[in-house]
Amino acid sequence: MGKPKVFLTRELPPQAMERLRNETELEMNQEDRVLTRHELLEGVKGKDALLCQLTDQVDKEVLSANPRLKIVANYAVGYNNIDVEAATAMGVPVSNTPGVLTETSADLAFALLMAGARRVVEGDKYLRTGAWSGWGPLQFLGMDIHGTVLGIIGLGRIGTAMAKRGKGFGMKVKYWNRTRLSETEESRLGLSYLAFDELLKTADFVSLHVAYTDETHHLIGEKELKTMKPSALLINTARGAVVDEAALVNALEAGEIWGAALDVYEKEPQVHPKLLEMDNVVLLPHMASASKATRTKMAMIAIDTILAVWNGTEAPYLINSDVYTPKRP
Ligand code: GLV
Ligand code: GLV
Repeated sequence: MGKPKVFLTRELPPQAMERLRNETELEMNQEDRVLTRHELLEGVKGKDALLCQLTDQVDKEVLSANPRLKIVANYAVGYNNIDVEAATAMGVPVSNTPGVLTETSADLAFALLMAGARRVVEGDKYLRTGAWSGWGPLQFLGMDIHGTVLGIIGLGRIGTAMAKRGKGFGMKVKYWNRTRLSETEESRLGLSYLAFDELLKTADFVSLHVAYTDETHHLIGEKELKTMKPSALLINTARGAVVDEAALVNALEAGEIWGAALDVYEKEPQVHPKLLEMDNVVLLPHMASASKATRTKMAMIAIDTILAVWNGTEAPYLINSDVYTPKRP
């Protein structure tokens, strides 16, 4: 049956590269940068599988460039960069990498919470400028973490893992989700549900864990920021456009919220220039799942899925599994 022809849009961790070289006919982006549109359109031609990144826009045009494409494997849990509807209409299975990055991503979301609350990055920068003249009673006063309210928006896998971290740090954890958990689940996890506006009003920390869809576009905008406490910190590790970035800048300038800690932006890699100048924001370059172990596991899932579809076996990570029927169990 031979090996599947795979087009890889960017180099992956070493163990994954070894597998791809052994188990597939690999063609890949040789440079450490996002492919141009033209390169993506050319690269996908004649391949069986596209192994792509969240920075690749896989739309109708890309899918149409290769009507014989058998699988699009996205190296991410989020898949808003792929037109899944178009892929489904064309009968092309699409996969993502859920589960393996949950704890790693929640670790970084909590790191952002702590860094924002205790002004970790600001303190580090200050010291390095040489401005520090010694301990001071009013230096870098921040927010307590223990005993405060963590408001989770979107209680999926990562939201739930974030909630556990909050509880471990002695926070009161509240959540809002499109569908509410059963009472048994709520008490098992020790979480209480609040209506969306109530959660915004109550939380000292608002952490976003929703997928990006038409419904969650600018979920946090001017009105929501005004509803939040002036002492609150907003944490975003979901997708940039879940927050109206311009409204966030205005709210921070007006002191409507205390600060923000962000891993994602509306127009990556661009960041609103005003955010770059603000001391009360922590800015990271979209790195929540970036641990060696997790990025390797994500790659293995993508490769396993490509090989499963190629061999006609079960492929558990498909998003649109309706378009795929395994030939062999
Ligand atoms: C990262 O943002 C991901 O969706 O995996
Ligand atoms: C991510 O996959 C989540 O469900 O939070």
